[in-house]
Amino acid sequence: MRHDPLWVNQAIRKIEADFQRSADTHLIKLDIPAIEGIDLYLKDESTHPTGSLKHRLARSLFLYSLCNGWIGEHTTIIESSSGSTAVSEAYFARLLGLPFIAVVPRRTARKKIEQIEFYGGQAHFVDEPCQIYDESRRLAEKLNGHYMDQFTYAERATDWRGNNNIANSIFEQMQLEAHPIPTWIVMSAGTGGTSATIGRYIRYQMHGTQLCVVDPEHSVFHDYYLTRDPALKGERGSRIEGIGRPRVEPSFIPDVVDEMRTIPDAASIATVHWLEKLLGRKAGASTGTNLYGVLQLASDMKARGEQGSIVTLLCDSGERYLDTYFDTDWVATNIGDIQPYLDQLAAFEQTGQLS
Ligand SMILES: Cc1ncc(COP(=O)(O)O)c(C=O)c1O
Repeated sequence: MRHDPLWVNQAIRKIEADFQRSADTHLIKLDIPAIEGIDLYLKDESTHPTGSLKHRLARSLFLYSLCNGWIGEHTTIIESSSGSTAVSEAYFARLLGLPFIAVVPRRTARKKIEQIEFYGGQAHFVDEPCQIYDESRRLAEKLNGHYMDQFTYAERATDWRGNNNIANSIFEQMQLEAHPIPTWIVMSAGTGGTSATIGRYIRYQMHGTQLCVVDPEHSVFHDYYLTRDPALKGERGSRIEGIGRPRVEPSFIPDVVDEMRTIPDAASIATVHWLEKLLGRKAGASTGTNLYGVLQLASDMKARGEQGSIVTLLCDSGERYLDTYFDTDWVATNIGDIQPYLDQLAAFEQTGQLS
């Protein structure tokens, strides 16, 4: 169906004007004297208007869909999401005056549902995380709407060559640092779109940086990286919101990844609690997964007597998860004992070794 080109032009202009009014996100340097000569950085994606790295993806998916002729003045937008992408897409749908429905697992953080609704979106619940895809497709057909399908299109909607993508921004912000070309960039995967963008950009710019993707428990990405079996299925959803999937998502591109590591969920949660003391701010659990992977790599570098820099992402704020990852009872019931990892992190601060 051909949509009114005037409306499409105006919609693209509104998104570009919104971008023009936006600032880039900060690159925060962590201060850990025990690993002197190994500099760690967090790209703080929580400061986007909709609070997570998914603001970038939502902008890209809307532009991609508009330019493909998939969205018009009367299109209902539907998305399958664990929450963050839906919050950001609800923001852009409202900017364009379009109805938005997010198909989300029932146990998605309440704060995220409130934010989807704050931006005028509607949450449509399914019991199991694996049901989000079929239900989104069914709704899109029924309502004659457009299913954004982040898990398929994330990797191709972003311009990985440059043009203000996250990788480009990281390398520009690193320019005046002691080790401007990171030894490692560490990222977790939800759609896999961010790791695909970073991995491709590193190759295109011919940098020596290695990309490490960290995966939580109950995710199939790491097994897929090792076996390349696209039919792998997980028994249950990830406990780390936003990352780790029970099926191999089309947007996850394994061949741009240099190394994968599985991070225990208790380590991810312990790491965000440890980071809060260092930073004075709470981060979401996927940031804990990222940072624990960074600390493992830094510890290995120190043991080998190497110097350099490692960059990762602060994906979203922990304020979204006060009743889960920052609630002691919830953590004890749903994750287990995180004390051994808190002890390990306290020792790391003294020795620079994570053992
Ligand atoms: C909080 C959070 N962290 C990390 C990610 C992973 O990003 P990507 O989808 O680009 O792999 C997501 C994706 O939804 C997320 O919501």
